Amino acid sequence: MTPFVFVSDLDHTFVNHGVEEDKQRWELQHKLDAHRQQYGTKIVYATGRSPQLYRKLALEKRLVSPDALVLSVGTEIYIQGSDTPDTEWVNLLAQNWQRETVVKTAAKFPELKAQPDSEQRQFKVSFWLEEEYSEKILPEIESELRKYALNIKLIYSSGIDLDIVPANSDKGQAMQFLRQRWEFAAAQTVACGDSGNDIALFATGESRGIIVGNARPELLQWHHQNPNPNRYLAQNSCAGGILEGLNHFGFL
Ligand code: GLC
Ligand code: MG
Repeated sequence: MTPFVFVSDLDHTFVNHGVEEDKQRWELQHKLDAHRQQYGTKIVYATGRSPQLYRKLALEKRLVSPDALVLSVGTEIYIQGSDTPDTEWVNLLAQNWQRETVVKTAAKFPELKAQPDSEQRQFKVSFWLEEEYSEKILPEIESELRKYALNIKLIYSSGIDLDIVPANSDKGQAMQFLRQRWEFAAAQTVACGDSGNDIALFATGESRGIIVGNARPELLQWHHQNPNPNRYLAQNSCAGGILEGLNHFGFL
């Protein structure tokens, strides 16, 4: 067997949030951990959560400890249990990012409701935006921000979450950064996700992708519009779908 880089979103992908004990997640965690010990496979979680909300979930669900964490929708990378974000990544994102201008511009849009303080991060300004307004408002915010020639990107997920982040940061670019740091081939990298903020994980060409069976319409729509044989749409939900995809690609 060959080692691989396993990258997974958490909410509604790795973790199903059901009331019952998730036997398939235990099986998946066990298999990944064994593969890591035997072959040197790397485990990465890539989530929109802040460090605070990540820790809460990790304790609650007893998540297998990762080799790296991609938090705050790709704007923070923590390697090998470090408490401080990777400085190379921080320096890359800091170029031409003006948090204050983003906050001030967004304040002109009453449809945007600020998310809790814990989710406002150095390189991530987050709101809730009701889906019914999104089609009209998102292009308006974008063009308003473009006036300042800012290096920004809007990521809208699950029909409610809006993250404004530097253009050169998302889950996919963070995954590439780790893959290159660890010197793994793209074909030995697999990403798993269920919603809009995971699209970047699947937009990187050669690496493999697993879309879980319970994926959100925004991701499914993108998947059908951008077909790629390196991407697998699972029948099963969450961990069950991930196991299905890992077998499909022959990683396990
Ligand atoms: C998580 C974060 C939130 C973000 C969302 C989508 O729920 O807590 O801030 O908007 O992911 O990326
Ligand atoms: Mg998710």
